[in-house]
Formats: sequence, structure tokens, C-alpha cells
Amino acid sequence: MSGKTETFELRDGASGRSSQLPVRTGTIGPAALDIAGLHKDLDVFTYDPGFGATAATESRITYIDGDAGVLLYRGYPIEQLAEKSSFMEVAYLLLLGELPTSRQLEEFTGNIRYHTMLNETLLRFFNGFHHNAHPMAMVSAVVASMSAFYHDTMDIHNPRHREIFSHRIIAKLPTIAAAAHKHSLGQPFIYPRNELDYAANLLHMLFAVPCEAYKLDPIASEALDLLFILHADHEQNASTSTVRLAGSTGANPYAAISAGVSALWGPAHGGANEAVLAMLEQIGSVDHIPKHLAMAKDKSGHFRLMGFGHRVYKNFDPRAQIIRAMCHKVLARLGRADNPLFELALRLEEIALKDEYFVSRKLYPNVDFYSGVIYSAIGIPRSMFTVMFAVARTVGWVAHWQEMISDPGMRIGRPRQLYTGATRREYLEIARRG
Ligand code: SDX
Repeated sequence: MSGKTETFELRDGASGRSSQLPVRTGTIGPAALDIAGLHKDLDVFTYDPGFGATAATESRITYIDGDAGVLLYRGYPIEQLAEKSSFMEVAYLLLLGELPTSRQLEEFTGNIRYHTMLNETLLRFFNGFHHNAHPMAMVSAVVASMSAFYHDTMDIHNPRHREIFSHRIIAKLPTIAAAAHKHSLGQPFIYPRNELDYAANLLHMLFAVPCEAYKLDPIASEALDLLFILHADHEQNASTSTVRLAGSTGANPYAAISAGVSALWGPAHGGANEAVLAMLEQIGSVDHIPKHLAMAKDKSGHFRLMGFGHRVYKNFDPRAQIIRAMCHKVLARLGRADNPLFELALRLEEIALKDEYFVSRKLYPNVDFYSGVIYSAIGIPRSMFTVMFAVARTVGWVAHWQEMISDPGMRIGRPRQLYTGATRREYLEIARRG
């Protein structure tokens, strides 16, 4: 564990018992009270549903300051990486902890590039899905099924096996994503092309057809590469915590990543980008914004302003600001500067951020609020938005899985509970019940 430790004493006035809680300090951010001895000393648990104030682990990968709107990948500000880096370089940084040299990046990119094809038998799995299956259902299922194909490198305690897994899953996710899309269209799968970079290859597999040459739009691949950088990691979010918990049991890494895909799918998490577009289309026009803001405040209803709010950011999500700026640039370069959905999103943000309900609760646009505008503008259908998020976040999931599995102190995750159910009672035969 990093940092110096001091100690907090917690005393139970009634019994006079006390517990010494070591304070663990990191490099930046809040210190953490080590409560591991609390139950033994005082026979109590801590209580924190949703883990809003609980550090489940130590990590060196990503740092977020929610109040200041700061996001660092291995110490590098997201704004600088968004402006100067590439998704493959960011993937290397998140996985290995340092920015690569040219030779290291070339070698890493080559390892990814030459693992993009799927086993032909695995491609046949897609034919088992109904044509209108949600792509996230197909992606989570096929990712889990990869463990049935790669028995040779499944020793999670073998660093080389872990490295091969990392390359394979990052390389193959775009191919799986594109295959899910092609299946839903009833079109033939398009194989990856080794001369294309990561984002361009995915666009080619998504949109090319065998009967004509596909003309790649450099703006689209530039925008997608940037979106991948912004979505690559985000410390202990719900899907990453799911990957860590699943991986902590010793489950194979493909199963752990598949669990992360499933957790990301929820509209409160990665599924929000798809829900934002549905919401904007439901709102339809600026004059319907006040009605929908009222619905979002109505606790009796389920309507929420999708793409707004965040468990950690109580300031602007820096990724949302970068994506908003990118919207202007991409839409203008695509000749769609007057994109009605983007105009509506901008007005919705402007009006919501003048509304006391949102301001007092510090509800700002998050990463999902504007991303769908760009996905739509480059031709990606709404049902594929969360799949795009999963492709990018696979890098973060793998980085966290690697960090956990390579920690000799790793233990299976097993939260406790505050029990409020029935106390012991005796079984009653059915003939004697009510
Ligand atoms: C992602 O964790 C991560 O880092 C996730 C992520 C990542 O990169 O991995 O950043 C990606 O998941 C972004 C979030 C995408 N989800 C959405 O956009 C869905 C809409 N947002 C909300 O569901 C909500 O804001 C959450 C889920 C994001 C955060 O939920 P919290 O932290 O549990 O907040 P809360 O529900 O306790 O809300 C606090 C208050 C409540 O009102 P009061 O009880 O104080 O009166 O704010 C209200 C909430 O009702 N509120 C909203 C709202 N979000 C919170 N009201 C209307 N619309 C919203 N969007």
C-alpha cells in the first residue's frame, strides 16, 4: 500500500471498546480509513450503499477529482491526451503505465493489429441470435464464449498468458462489435484490414459491403479515435468494479470482461448514450424542454435527464466538454453544422444549467450527453452506441483486471450487509398456515 499511515481511533462509548483505524494516504486525492479490523474490534460493519464513499481497492491507473472536473490517465490530463495522443498510445499507457517510445508503440500496435480476426466458428455464434437482438446482448455473449476457444492461454497467474489475453480481447472487440452490427443488418461480415488503424478498421467492418469499395472518411475515424480515448477508463465505475469483482474469483478473463459489458449496458451507466438520443428525439423541439425538465424533477416518475449527473463529477465532466467541442468541429467538417439534435442538446444544457434543481444538485452533462450526436453524425446507429463505449472501455477493464490479478495481496471480493429481515422462526406446515 502506498503512502504513510496515521491512525484514527474509533471508540464505542457504551462498551469502552475501541478500534485503531490506519489512515492510508495516496499520491493525490482523499486519504482512506482502513476499516479491515473494525468488525473484529467492535463487531460492526460500515454502511455505504452504492459505495459513494468507499475505496474498494488501491489503484495507479486513473484519477478523478469530481469537484474540480479533473481526469488523469496514469497522471496525464485527459485534455492533453485528447489533443495529442491516439487510442493505441492511450491503451499502451493505461495497460503498462508509461507513454511508449515509437518502437514500443509500433510493437504494441502490431500485436493488436495481427489479432483482429475471429475464429470462424465463433463468427457462427452470431447466426444463433434473432436479427433484432440488441448488439450488447451479442457482444457480451460472444466475449464470454471466447474462453471456449483460447484454453492455451488461460493461466491467470502467467504474465505472458495475461499479456496475450490483453492483446486478443482489445484486438477482437471491434471485430465482434462490427459482426453484431452486420448480423442485425443481415449483411455479410467484413473482415478486418491490417493496413487500417484501430478506429478506421472498425468503421470499415461496420460500413463496408462486398459489392463495392468502401471510402473511409478520415474525419469519422479521427472522431472515433478521440471518443475511444475519452471512454477508455474511469477508475472504479460500475462496470470496472464488476470486472474486478468477477475477476477476483479467479474466473477466466473473458468471463470477467463479459460481466463488464453487461454492467455497462444499463441506462444509468454506459447505456445512457443510447438513452440520450432517445430522450432528445422524445423532446423533439426546444419548446418542449421545460415540460421534460419538469418530468425529470418529478420523483414519482422514472424520467431522468439522460446524460446529466454523475456519482463523482460535481462539476463539468471534462470529457463532455471535449466531446461538445468536437461536435462543433465534426459536424462542420461533415457539412452538418445545423444538426438539429446537437442544437437541441446545446439548448437543453443551457436551460438546465440555469435551473435551480440541476444547479443545486450539481447535475452537469456527463460523457454520454454529446457522444451520441457524433456517433449519429458518422453513421453509427443508436443501438451500437453502448457497444462503442464497450470497445473503448475494454482497455480500462483489462488494465484494472491486470492490476488486480498481478497483486499478490488480491483477495476474492465479498461485501457484507446490514440485515433487516426476519429473525429466526420455525417452519410451519402448509396445513397450519393461514
Ligand atoms: C457513466 O461512474 C462512472 O464513472 C460512470 C461513467 C464512466 O465513464 O464509467 O462516467 C459513465 O455512466 C456516466 C453516467 C451516465 N448515466 C446517465 O447519464 C443517466 C442519468 N444520470 C442519473 O441516473 C444519475 O445522475 C447517475 C446514475 C449518473 C448518478 O446517480 P447518483 O450518484 O446515485 O445520483 P443520485 O441518484 O443520488 O442523484 C442525486 C440527486 C437526486 O435528487 P434528490 O434525491 O437529491 O432530490 O440528483 C437527482 C436525483 O433524483 N438526479 C437527477 C439526475 N441525476 C441525478 N435528476 C434528474 N435527472 C438526472 N439525470
